[in-house]
Amino acid sequence: MSKTVHIKTYGCQMNVYDSTRMRDVLAPLGYSETDDAETADLVILNTCHIREKAAEKVYSELGRLRDVKSARALNGKDMMIAVAGCVGQAEGTEITRRMKSVDLVFGPQTYHRLPELLKLRQETGQSVVETEFSVERKFDDLQSTPQAATSVAAFLTIQEGCDKFCTFCVVPYTRGAEFSRPVVQILGEAEKLALKGVREITLLGQNVNAYRGAGDDGQSNLARLVNQLSHIKGIERIRYMTSHPRDMSDDLIAAHAANKKLMPFLHLPVQSGSDRILKAMNRGHTATHYLKIIERMRNARSDMAISGDFIVGFPGETDEDFEATLDLVREVQYASAYSFKYSTRPGTPAAERQDQVDEVVKSERLVRLQKLIAEQTARFNVSCVGKTFAVLLEKPGRQTGQLIGRSPYLQSIHIEGENLKIGQLVNITIKSVGPNSLSGQYTPNQ
Ligand code: SAH
Ligand code: SF4
Ligand code: F3S
Repeated sequence: MSKTVHIKTYGCQMNVYDSTRMRDVLAPLGYSETDDAETADLVILNTCHIREKAAEKVYSELGRLRDVKSARALNGKDMMIAVAGCVGQAEGTEITRRMKSVDLVFGPQTYHRLPELLKLRQETGQSVVETEFSVERKFDDLQSTPQAATSVAAFLTIQEGCDKFCTFCVVPYTRGAEFSRPVVQILGEAEKLALKGVREITLLGQNVNAYRGAGDDGQSNLARLVNQLSHIKGIERIRYMTSHPRDMSDDLIAAHAANKKLMPFLHLPVQSGSDRILKAMNRGHTATHYLKIIERMRNARSDMAISGDFIVGFPGETDEDFEATLDLVREVQYASAYSFKYSTRPGTPAAERQDQVDEVVKSERLVRLQKLIAEQTARFNVSCVGKTFAVLLEKPGRQTGQLIGRSPYLQSIHIEGENLKIGQLVNITIKSVGPNSLSGQYTPNQ
């Protein structure tokens, strides 16, 4: 019987990948996707717990969905509501206690069992909460369900979880311990994607450069995996995220110099430029260590674009600590970066500290940091004008004849091009810079 599912995704790229896989798992049950939550038979919120605001959004959306569900029940129509992802994992039965209209709650490690959970819900008439950790079984199970490629660029999770326990972060509690998928499994998924027309793969993991999956001859690593993936016919570009400074190996830096399919873009969060704060965060690296990695990456590939993540207002952060963060940003010269106000997360050590920073101070620091980063992003984009580089054409633009592609540095490029097709990798000369994208012109090889 044909049914519809609506999946709303919050949070990081790992959740985007998981949502794709939920769709894949549901397809054999007759579920097709709809972008209308009001008429869907099943609505899944794939949630994020990283900051307080992210978790709050889920409850307000659940309130809205409860009303839709009641209205539909009056017309004799059924609707199921599921909470997946990191809020599901962190809050479990608390969600069904607060929101009686929720039928299913499950975490990032149990969605492969969705068909079984839906059946249980139907058979028992009770809400079902399933938050066990079994990452290994999840990926084994998912192997029998191929990823439906919907674009020429795909995500592929190769590593999950985190053992680092930064004192501000919920991820080790919501995703569990670090786990790396075996090499053959990843190559298999990538080969299937390539056959479906995928040209670019972004390897995902909370600590992707800590990848240690089983290979033919013992434990592999990210650099070796990238090199193997680059031999798959059809795969033209490889990216990875998110990396941790502590796991940056010489091999991976060397791969950037040697492997032309590995894109010159590194997302390497640092969080703070103050060693005192980095220590309190339990990051396990100093600002100097971080800057050294950036320098070595740029020595390996001079056009390496750098991106990062920052937290302002971590407990005990002084003006001096914050100035050290600005200094680090000035030194790195980012192509892009994300920055957030510290948000207290229940159950994490930093949430217990008495020296929380005032919200007003946090906001002021965030404004200053974001201004500096925005200036650097603008400078980086302007420096691309007049340059020609390969762009992967990903989707149609809003205007007829227009296509949108990505530069090696992950910028979105608008191209006016007759006779160009999605999936092509073409030389584009950058002509101008807009607020959120660049514009370029097709420049055939001379
Ligand atoms: N594994 C990655 C990041 C995962 S979370 C890493 O180690 O860098 C993504 C980003 O959210 C983090 O880099 C951090 O900048 C931000 N973040 C995590 N917890 C936060 C919190 N409690 N408050 C504010 N920002 C937070
Ligand atoms: Fe969170 Fe730190 Fe792990 Fe990143 S390394 S996921 S910030 S605990
Ligand atoms: Fe959020 Fe979970 Fe990702 S908390 S950032 S969705 S790992």
